[in-house]
Order: sequence, then structure tokens, then C-alpha cells
Amino acid sequence: MEVEARLLRRSDVSQIVTGWNLCLPYDRISRERFESIIFDDPNYEREGNLVATWNDKIIGFIAAVAREETAGLDGAGKAREEDFGYIKGLFVLKNYEGKEVKGCLLEKALRFLKSKGKKIARVGEYTGRYFSPGIDIRYEEELRFFLDNGFEKVDVEEDVTIDLNAFQPTEYQRLAQQRIELMGVAIKSYQTKFFDEMRRFAEKLDYPQWFPKDWELHFNENCYTIVAVSKSDIVGWARFFKDSERWWFGPIAVLKEFRRKGIGTCLLLEAMLQMKTLGAPNVTAGWVDVPFYIKSNWKISRRYIVLQKSLIGLDTKCMQAIRGLKSSDT
Ligand SMILES: CC(C)(COP(=O)(O)OP(=O)(O)OC[C@H]1O[C@@H](n2cnc3c(N)ncnc32)[C@H](O)[C@@H]1OP(=O)(O)O)[C@@H](O)C(=O)NCCC(=O)NCCS
Repeated sequence: MEVEARLLRRSDVSQIVTGWNLCLPYDRISRERFESIIFDDPNYEREGNLVATWNDKIIGFIAAVAREETAGLDGAGKAREEDFGYIKGLFVLKNYEGKEVKGCLLEKALRFLKSKGKKIARVGEYTGRYFSPGIDIRYEEELRFFLDNGFEKVDVEEDVTIDLNAFQPTEYQRLAQQRIELMGVAIKSYQTKFFDEMRRFAEKLDYPQWFPKDWELHFNENCYTIVAVSKSDIVGWARFFKDSERWWFGPIAVLKEFRRKGIGTCLLLEAMLQMKTLGAPNVTAGWVDVPFYIKSNWKISRRYIVLQKSLIGLDTKCMQAIRGLKSSDT
């Protein structure tokens, strides 16, 4: 019996989630999260998601996303990301790693990205629905695998966290509160009556990854939203939410002309106080601008390496030449 590769099917999800959680212990996922990140990504394409099987048992999985054109179907892509295709996730069960399955899955995914006109394959920094912003530095073998396959490290991303049990506002935060009060800026929980102001804020902010086309349809769903209000304008915004028993903060943004005046600090503080009241023991913010959080005493909790590889020169024609992996329905 040979190892085979075929396109992902909805019925594969349970087996994939089990395998994923065995191989990627720092990125454990639920079935719901997997489905939401893979199938509910507007940029999802069937051809980008492959499983490797051995006697019908799933032994590996890769997810790649091309995000066509500049903006992609999620409307979140930027011009500088136009050439990038992304590897969203990859694992092969330990016992099968020696059979070159992982390299074969990767090569097929890279060829898929190249066939979509992409020039660079990135592992990390995908602003659509993502599992993680890069490879956690604790996955030494994963990192070695990508480096051995021609990828290079191009960036580092970090998560930050803070314990809320012992938290009390600091002197720094109190000063920020005084500063914004003097400017006439108030921090408020979002209410639907602020909708027009929110729309104007989103237009001015110009961050398509957070306010893509039709963002209004799902705004403020499954999260808590707070805003900074100056006169009758929203000049800052942040959200936080609970997912799988953990509390998360972000994104946060302040309009350019209002930055570095303490508004971000006050939005963050208000969110921390609200979460503490809601019983959150701690909170994490993923893939962040670290210096801003450090000022409010958050600590770096995870570090990820972002990798990339040029696809120029990659041959898209000889799919069958991949050793050890026979294509069934790819
Ligand atoms: C990050 C952001 C929300 C901070 O809002 P803000 O209102 O400027 O924040 P504050 O004025 O309260 O700044 C607090 C401290 O963090 C520092 N800081 C803020 N943004 C920073 C950045 N990008 N890099 C380094 N330091 C930063 C400020 O200098 C300030 O320090 P100081 O008191 O010594 O001057 C704002 O810069 C922003 O909207 N950035 C673009 C959107 C974004 O990247 N959001 C994601 C953040 S993870």
C-alpha cells in the first residue's frame, strides 16, 4: 500500500483534528475552529488543501491559500502582499515523517500557489483566517523542515499576555486617563447608535484586514467592543472576546492623528478592567505591536518565526515526479 495524496473532504475533519493536536501541541484546535479557519475563509480553494493517506488513514495534511488578485475574496489583502501565497498549516504524523510525506505535501502546495500566479510562499503573516502568525519557535523540527526545504526566516511575530487576577491600574495608565480626559476623549462601550460614527472611523482608518468589504454584516458579533470618542467622532476602537475558555484582546486601532496621546493605553485599560469584572484570569493578544503592550506591563508569551520561499523557477508540470506520494484525485 502506498501513501497517497488527495483533496481534503469535509468528512476528514475529525481525523485531521486528532492528528493536528498530536503533532502541534502548542496550537491545539477544536473541530469548530478548524472548520472556521479552513472552510469559512472566503479565500478557501479546494485545490489548496490536501491530505496524505496510508491505508485510508489520514497521516498528514497541508492547507495553502492563494488569495487571488490583491484584495482576495475576503477583501483583506494589501498591494504589498499581492505576490504572496500562504501555507496555513502542515503536519505529518510522527511515524510517517521518514517517508518524505511532508516534503511531498509541501511541494504540491507550493505548486498550487505557483499555479495561481504567486511568486512567494509565506508561512505566517496571513491576515485572513489563520491558525498562527508563523511557526512557534518551540517547534524546532518544523522550523528545520522549512529551512531544509529552501525557506528563509523573514520576520518574527509575538503574542503578549497579562495576569488579570492581581491587576490594578498603574501610574502610567492613570496618567494616560488624565491626558485623554483633558483632550475631551472618552472611552465607551460600543452601542448600535454609534454605527454611523463607526463606519466613518473604519473608512478613515483604512485597515482592510479588520474592516474588509461588508464588515458591517458581522460587526460586534461574539465580542465586546469599546471605542474612544472625541466630540461626536470615534477616533479609536478595540475588541476583546472569549474563545475556548480563553480571553483574547485585539485588534486595537487609533486614527493616525490621534496616536501617541494615550488613547490606545486607555482602550487597553478599559478592556482589561471589563475582562477582570467578567472573571477573566488572564488575557492574551496575538500577533501584536509589542512595545505598545509592554508599556502597560504585558509580557511576551509566544514567539513565532515567519518564513518565505521564492516560487520563481518551481516547475508546476511534473506532479507525478514526487517520490513516495501517489496522487489519487489531485
Ligand atoms: C498601537 C496603537 C493602537 C497605539 O495607540 P496609541 O493611542 O498611539 O497608544 P498610546 O498613545 O497610548 O501609546 C502608549 C505607548 O506605546 C507606545 N507605542 C504606541 N504604538 C507604538 C508602536 N507602534 N511602536 C512603538 N511604541 C508604540 C507609545 O509611544 C506610548 O509610549 P509613551 O507613553 O512612552 O509615549 C496605534 O499606534 C495604532 O492604531 N496603530 C495602528 C494599528 C495597529 O497596528 N494596531 C495593532 C496593535 S497590536
